[in-house]
Amino acid sequence: MAETQSRLVAVSNRVGPLSDEGQAGGLVVGLSDALKRHGGLWFGWSGETSAEGTQSREKTEVQENVEMTTIDLTEEELKGFYLDYANRSLWPLLHYRLDLAEFDRASDRIYRNVNHRFAVRLMPHLREGDLVWVHDYHFFYMGSELRQAGYKGRLGYFLHIPFCSPEVFSALPASHDIVRAMLAYDLVGFQTERDRRNFVNFCTGELGGEELDEERLRVGDRTVITRAFPIGIDAEAYARFAVSPEAGEHEEMLRDISRRRGAPEGEEGGRKLIVGVDRMDYSKGLLERFYGFERLLEDYPENRGNAIFLQVAPLSRSEVDAYADLRHQLEHTAGHLNGRFATLDWTPLQMMTRGFTRKALAGIYRAARVCLVTPLRDGMNLVAKEFVAAQDPDDPGVLVLSRFAGALAELKGGCITVNPYNTDDVAAALQKGLTMPLEERKRRWQVMREAVFTGTAQHWCQTFLDRLEASHDEAGGTGGK
Ligand code: ADP
Ligand code: G6P
Repeated sequence: MAETQSRLVAVSNRVGPLSDEGQAGGLVVGLSDALKRHGGLWFGWSGETSAEGTQSREKTEVQENVEMTTIDLTEEELKGFYLDYANRSLWPLLHYRLDLAEFDRASDRIYRNVNHRFAVRLMPHLREGDLVWVHDYHFFYMGSELRQAGYKGRLGYFLHIPFCSPEVFSALPASHDIVRAMLAYDLVGFQTERDRRNFVNFCTGELGGEELDEERLRVGDRTVITRAFPIGIDAEAYARFAVSPEAGEHEEMLRDISRRRGAPEGEEGGRKLIVGVDRMDYSKGLLERFYGFERLLEDYPENRGNAIFLQVAPLSRSEVDAYADLRHQLEHTAGHLNGRFATLDWTPLQMMTRGFTRKALAGIYRAARVCLVTPLRDGMNLVAKEFVAAQDPDDPGVLVLSRFAGALAELKGGCITVNPYNTDDVAAALQKGLTMPLEERKRRWQVMREAVFTGTAQHWCQTFLDRLEASHDEAGGTGGK
């Protein structure tokens, strides 16, 4: 594959860090893994508020070959754009939670305006020949705003989260405006073929669009290319993290807490560890997962005293009610489960909200016999891929993966697939994972390893950019800048 020579300009709400400190969120992890290799400009929100907001002075930080430039939001912009429109309207809607979605015109207006402001602030940075790549549901209107501001170069977009079915998406008052705005991009990328199909069906069913071939779609006088580009991780680097001293310390700590009192070192003396690692988000199916673990202890009592479930769940978007409510429900459910089953020397479920470095997390994955990744809906899910990359080839763990995670398309040959809404199914999958013979674990892991080491972050970035380079003229773009 030829390395593209054009400068990459990536735009996303969250920007950086490029370091291995760790930050919960798949977009930053995938994009920083990709940008570290590729270089370029990364433009977005500083994570701070100020009186000037999107009119504030830029902050610039250069790390290796990546320049990160950010601007602030005002308190009003933060509320209307990020908390309300992005996370109270779009996030639940696109994750099929219409019951949680709220729509109001004040936040719609602020969301559009923030997209406009970011486009205006980005314009002076753009040079001839750049590849501009906009990311995620915070910036649906950014492409059409850049075009209106006069940008004529190549313009791509990638949605990191699911694109829901047209029946659900059409509940959004601005659904037509958003999809029409997305047609300003030359290339629109999705995590899976299912997401792409939903988008295409919306365009044909609601906007009178026409599919020209497998990729090209015409709506009115616009032709766009749509394609699935599953995001990945830097698998080689992750596998190295997993054998670092820091990972080793964490793995060892977990083996210590899993050891039965007075038991000798080694497998016979240990309890089996199940881990889950997710932002505390209702889309991740955490509550349903806790019920699945409880059912395991009810229906397969040999696990009482012998299995420990560690759920790492960093707090996320706590200002949004649905997230604060979820925290209460999880704490209540965990407390209830432990109260019911714990003994003097065994606490079945541990939930912690703290952050970890990427190396520490890799050690946690490596200590686990089973990783539970059971979202009710997820664009991709990088935790599943990190778990695979971190395993010891001589004694790999088992991945239990939701049928509603984008990652299933690549990992289904090796994981145990579950319906996260079916408590019995989750319990049976856990039991199967906990008792799976070594040979079968190795065979399944090998299949998943192949997928994770092929579909990396670098591969995702390069295939997208190669397609974007070629797409502009094909898509009937407005000609080079
Ligand atoms: P999402 O993007 O919805 O959060 P993903 O599974 O795709 O879901 O990505 C989550 C990312 O956040 C992973 O890279 C994971 O390692 C990271 N992460 C999750 N929890 C923590 C934590 N406690 N500390 C540091 N990183 C975390
Ligand atoms: C998901 C989204 C990202 C987002 C991340 C963390 O990965 O796709 O766009 O950055 O969650 O959420 P936050 O609201 O903290 O940015």
